[in-house]
Amino acid sequence: AMVRHYKFNVVVKNVTRLCSTKPIVTVNGKFPGPTIYAREDDTVLVKVVNHVKYNVSIHWHGVRQLRTGWADGPAYITQCPIQPGQAFVYNFTLTGQRGTLWWHAHILWLRSTVHGALVILPKLGVPYPFPKPHTEKVIILSEWWKSDTEAVINEALKSGLAPNVSDAHTINGHPGSVQNCASQGGYELQVQPGNTYLLRIINAALNEELFFKIAGHQLTVVEVDAVYTKPFKTDTIVIAPGQTTSVLLKANRAAGKYLVAATPFMDSPIAVDNVTATATLHYTGSLGSTITTLTSLPPKNATPVATNFTDSLRSLNSKKYPARVPQKVDHSLFFTISLGVNPCPTCVNGSKVVAAINNVTFVMPKVSLLQAHFFNISGVFIDDFPGKPPVVYDFTGTQQPTNLRTNRGTRVYRLAYNSTVQLVLQDTGMITPENHPLHLHGFNFFVVGRGQGNFNPKKDTKKFNLVDPVERNTVGVPSGGWTAIRFRADNPGVWFMHCHLEIHTTWGLKMAFVVDNGKGPNESLLPPPSDLPKC
Ligand code: C2O
Repeated sequence: AMVRHYKFNVVVKNVTRLCSTKPIVTVNGKFPGPTIYAREDDTVLVKVVNHVKYNVSIHWHGVRQLRTGWADGPAYITQCPIQPGQAFVYNFTLTGQRGTLWWHAHILWLRSTVHGALVILPKLGVPYPFPKPHTEKVIILSEWWKSDTEAVINEALKSGLAPNVSDAHTINGHPGSVQNCASQGGYELQVQPGNTYLLRIINAALNEELFFKIAGHQLTVVEVDAVYTKPFKTDTIVIAPGQTTSVLLKANRAAGKYLVAATPFMDSPIAVDNVTATATLHYTGSLGSTITTLTSLPPKNATPVATNFTDSLRSLNSKKYPARVPQKVDHSLFFTISLGVNPCPTCVNGSKVVAAINNVTFVMPKVSLLQAHFFNISGVFIDDFPGKPPVVYDFTGTQQPTNLRTNRGTRVYRLAYNSTVQLVLQDTGMITPENHPLHLHGFNFFVVGRGQGNFNPKKDTKKFNLVDPVERNTVGVPSGGWTAIRFRADNPGVWFMHCHLEIHTTWGLKMAFVVDNGKGPNESLLPPPSDLPKC
């Protein structure tokens, strides 16, 4: 295994999109940011130097960070932010991981422009469990705001209302041809006839799930969230913020140009940016400007298309890549995912939108939880996060509960080292039906079940897939339904769990697990690095 060194200079850069220019925070002046390449078991050292006026922290989304929780990145959870003029070296090892992951700022809304790919190749000499692609390409889907995103969120927090939606989606940084602003082309993906390509697709958008499609071509899904899947063919993929999906694309159509599109999926009546981002698949050497367009793009509310895709995902579960699904459960947890309304005298309606897990709206601490845990600093968090919701609602009912108030607190749930966890995530749809992509730091989990309406422990548990469920780090909790996951708490530290729709995280849809140290010599969290930022 190798040690890979990267330097991330966080700098402001003027970028022009949608025919207007604005300064954005970037890494090394790039949008999207630079790709990190490494191999399984390599150690990665990234020196992040903050040259901007904002506090910064970077999260390596999906990296397990075994015993190195200090390098995980979420501000005030595992570290204090890197202040203007300061630097921090993130040092972690990609133990047993290969596939497509990504990195992003993990403080306020900075990740709207501060993000990039983290590509982990198999160990040298180890082949993919699928035909070797001719070339690999990173495809980052994102959103673009004409105004400053920090201003967008600050405005929303002040008013207590929902924030403005983005002005466009992007594919590798570009909205593409469908914009009113015709002067800017979109991303072009060059292919040679007959070749097969591995597309590493990442949804880096702040707030929107997306459909992704290439005119005239089928895609073969081979990996999600850096875990191999049983390959399956589809013409549409659905990808939530935080998720990654690697697909094989065979350039087997008549030479020419084909439209590539990313368009929002939202199973709710609320507003989304409806602008479809486009790019072009270009068979090298083919002349002419005609682009074969899509015969159909799923409409915004095409839930069956999304469900069909999600239901097709299975772990590869081969001899070489077994699915180690916990068969017995030590902690059985049931968390409700909800939006709520709390009083706010200075807000527009005298109230503000909040979000909660088990009716707890998470309050960010002033020092990082991991430091508080490691150094036994009292008064920072309480380990009394409820394992069950305080009130049981009928989530299938149409009657909205009269009391939408949530409790506030910096409350965590404590897990014993190496214990097994089953967590049922139940969407309540109390204010608006909406999917929630829940992301767990520090672990992969198995998605053992999923359903509509209320979770029924007796009936639904019997139907769990404990053989080859998909293994990942971010999972959609369906609108008005539930998702059940299982994982082994084999990573000591403090691990954030939150909705990867950034606005929901901001509103408090987040909590943390504390995993205690084990008894063996390799079961404890390592001490903090000496350059860990101070609060
Ligand atoms: Cu990709 Cu806590 O985030």
